[in-house]
Amino acid sequence: MPGANVVVASNRGPVSFSTQDEQLVLRRGGGGLVSALVRAAGQPAPQESDGAEGGGSLWVCCAMSEADRRAAREATHGRLDLAGHDMGGGRVRMLSIDPRVFDRAYNAIANRVLWFVAHMLFDTSVAPRFDAGFRKQWDSYERYCRAFALAIAEDAAEGAVVLVQDYHLTLAPGLLRLRRPDLRIGFFCHTPWAPPEYFRMLPGTVARDILAGILGADRAGFLSPRWAAAFADCCAEVLNADVRGGVVRYEGRDTVLGVHPLGVDGDELRRRAARNDVVSRAATLRDQLGGRQAIVRVDRMELSKNIVRGLEAYRELLRTRPEWRNRVTHIALANPSRSGVPEYREYTGSVLRMGEQIRNEFSTASWEPLVLDVSDDYARSLAAYTVADVLLVNPIRDGMNLVAKEGPILSRDGLALILSREAGAADELASDSLIVNPYDVSQTADSLDEALRMPREQRQERTRRLVTAATALPPQAWLRDQVEALQALSSR
Ligand code: F6P
Repeated sequence: MPGANVVVASNRGPVSFSTQDEQLVLRRGGGGLVSALVRAAGQPAPQESDGAEGGGSLWVCCAMSEADRRAAREATHGRLDLAGHDMGGGRVRMLSIDPRVFDRAYNAIANRVLWFVAHMLFDTSVAPRFDAGFRKQWDSYERYCRAFALAIAEDAAEGAVVLVQDYHLTLAPGLLRLRRPDLRIGFFCHTPWAPPEYFRMLPGTVARDILAGILGADRAGFLSPRWAAAFADCCAEVLNADVRGGVVRYEGRDTVLGVHPLGVDGDELRRRAARNDVVSRAATLRDQLGGRQAIVRVDRMELSKNIVRGLEAYRELLRTRPEWRNRVTHIALANPSRSGVPEYREYTGSVLRMGEQIRNEFSTASWEPLVLDVSDDYARSLAAYTVADVLLVNPIRDGMNLVAKEGPILSRDGLALILSREAGAADELASDSLIVNPYDVSQTADSLDEALRMPREQRQERTRRLVTAATALPPQAWLRDQVEALQALSSR
């Protein structure tokens, strides 16, 4: 196989497998990054003008289920045969990693430590605890990152651009650079980054390895200037690195910091929402609303999304402003996420209990105050955007939050957006949103009241501007900008 000119590496890949009657069935994942890479694969290869050997794009990802592992094992070196699956010529290599190593790396380290640090979500009176068990998990995380580095080193063409994604793979850029100094390596962080006072709770060697691992890249990209600044502060404080003008100098090498605020492909989203499954669900939701206003929220069931406080704010609205009873319905949709992590299971329980309390307190024979659905139904989420009068996005902390961008794009009559100041999206959307402190339940209840009262013309005007901001950097342009920025850096 000729080496690839653009390599994307991420834990979760663009395809996944299941088994039916013992046969493997391939499913192409949705989402902007998949479409962007598929399109990038169809574009001229970035290195062609340099006359370098190689071609096309390759996505290196991890087998996440038994069916994935079987597919990876049955393919030659995990390089999947995607003929007939409309991947625009892009190739996928799926790594079959020992399930125990994967479990420790993904669930124990990435999801239960690094994600919690990034979102500053530990209940620090009891967690985290870095003991001998943690050391073993950390070894697995290193092995997992090394497996990616080895695979990329094998499959990247001379001088290729490599884009390593997220906290699952922080050590991969450094490990890759040792093997392939010719590559132009980018790292992208899809979460927030914690300030040094929080980040340094990690054991010293681990904190240093993470930062030095990322600094193996030529560029490190973030969704918001706030997260880039926090990363730079950590490098200065923990590594004693020299940080100047958006460049981190460490051990004689420079890493440029970049900000790429990912947006939405509006046309693609509208096309998806025009399909029958979305249209029929929207009709059902409108029936349920019966002419009442809709407060909508759509999230993954994640601790950072602040769903419980959002429901408490709705309860406070109904308690303190009884005039809204029977005139509004809250549609709260949460897609299941990471059920392998105990904290997530407990959180789901808290959300369901709060929903039950609201129903018990306010339901009447003719009015259901809350539609709370915790199943995975993408079409229903899109349908909910179309009927929303108010969109509530109140995360405790969020890298970007694409719900705040998708909602306005699909809104039929214009909506009022309530947005947490702690979401990366607030950088771009604040001036046309009602900004809230995510911990302040009463302020959120006040904002719900204000949003429900906002005149239609004002909602429509704000929504028009929100759509412009939300579509400013769709995934294709987001990816292209990073590839071009890496190509523009002279090889070091
Ligand atoms: O919570 C958002 C996020 O953590 C992203 O940063 C990341 O890419 C994604 O979720 C990973 O999700 P999963 O564990 O389901 O693959």
